[in-house]
Amino acid sequence: MRLTDEERSLLDGAAGQAAKKAMQILVALGDIYGAEDLVPVRSVQVSGVSFHNLGEAGLEWLESMAVDGRVRAVTTLNPAGMDLEEWRAQGIDPGFAERQLRLVAAYTRMGIAPTCTCTPYLVGNLPGPGEHVAWAESSAVAYANSVLGARTNREGGPSALAAALTGRTPRYGLHLDAHRVPEVEVVIEAELASTAAWGALGRVIGKRAGTRVALLRTRARPSVAELKSLGASVVTFGGSPLFFLEGLTPAPGTRPTDSIVVQATDLEGAIAELSDGKDEIDLVALGCPHASLEELAELARMLDGRTVEKETWVCTARPTKLAAEKLGIVAAIERSGARVMADTCFAVTPLESRRGATIATDSAKGAYYASGHNKLRVHLGTVQDCVNAAVTGRWR
Ligand code: F3S
Repeated sequence: MRLTDEERSLLDGAAGQAAKKAMQILVALGDIYGAEDLVPVRSVQVSGVSFHNLGEAGLEWLESMAVDGRVRAVTTLNPAGMDLEEWRAQGIDPGFAERQLRLVAAYTRMGIAPTCTCTPYLVGNLPGPGEHVAWAESSAVAYANSVLGARTNREGGPSALAAALTGRTPRYGLHLDAHRVPEVEVVIEAELASTAAWGALGRVIGKRAGTRVALLRTRARPSVAELKSLGASVVTFGGSPLFFLEGLTPAPGTRPTDSIVVQATDLEGAIAELSDGKDEIDLVALGCPHASLEELAELARMLDGRTVEKETWVCTARPTKLAAEKLGIVAAIERSGARVMADTCFAVTPLESRRGATIATDSAKGAYYASGHNKLRVHLGTVQDCVNAAVTGRWR
């Protein structure tokens, strides 16, 4: 791979051991994927934050990188394994909390903003169309490519951190025009009226289009919440982290020859495949991907004057929660008994003690991780379905 003089000096260790290690990771990746050079990036999203997933070895590695590693791009962080401030109320073990806080502190020493969210685009890490970035976190990667029009591969934790510490990423895959061409048309005849429906669509696309880049044709005009849900789901179920939505994402003029039609029965089937919960639910989880201020306000309206019967979590980014607190939205939600949690989500926090419990969620990605990763049973439905379940304790 071609390297500039500056990149060579980073590789030689002129800027310290962490930058040297980061360049080694990028060069190795570039060689594997046949990149000709590195492309500068000003925006990075790093994953690999939950101590639940990283463990002691990951913590040790990050602390060694934080000795002299410092970022060269605006860098934000994925959710952690707990609410960093209210972990005691969450029932987190103090030993776990101590390690989780050390982990986030190591990232912060490197200059990474401890946003702890999967929606960096809602909290100030917002690249423009055509901009090369290096993002990890599949839902955010799909949003960056498909909604914002930025260019990123689906980075892993180490490669995203390497990009942050060097301000560069190998130029291959979705950084290249040749890989940003629609390969299959998806004609959506079904009505899409909820985050759950858009999530179900993501599952249908992932399963039927596979890794091909999809051009979505629909009359529906999705909200930010629905686009978040779609992006999270497409990649979770095996789809490409780039899709074009007609009328939203600027696409090259070429039309794919292959076509898929999505009917209402396809979405119903996808929802049914993801739902195996008991009638009585144990936990309601909303905010996957992390809820926006608008979603929190809507939820406060839905919960107004009601009391939840079952434990209800609403996950969001800390900056979004702070804004919602100032507006009285968090207090309005929590008056019902629901809890607004920042920095984490139910897929990355320890939930072993709840195995077999039934969770209600509006997120197809959340449903997948709840059943696979955390061995929970699931009901997937609209936010209103989930609110009703929280209040009555039963699904529908
Ligand atoms: Fe975000 Fe967790 Fe869902 S990281 S996309 S809230 S599984």
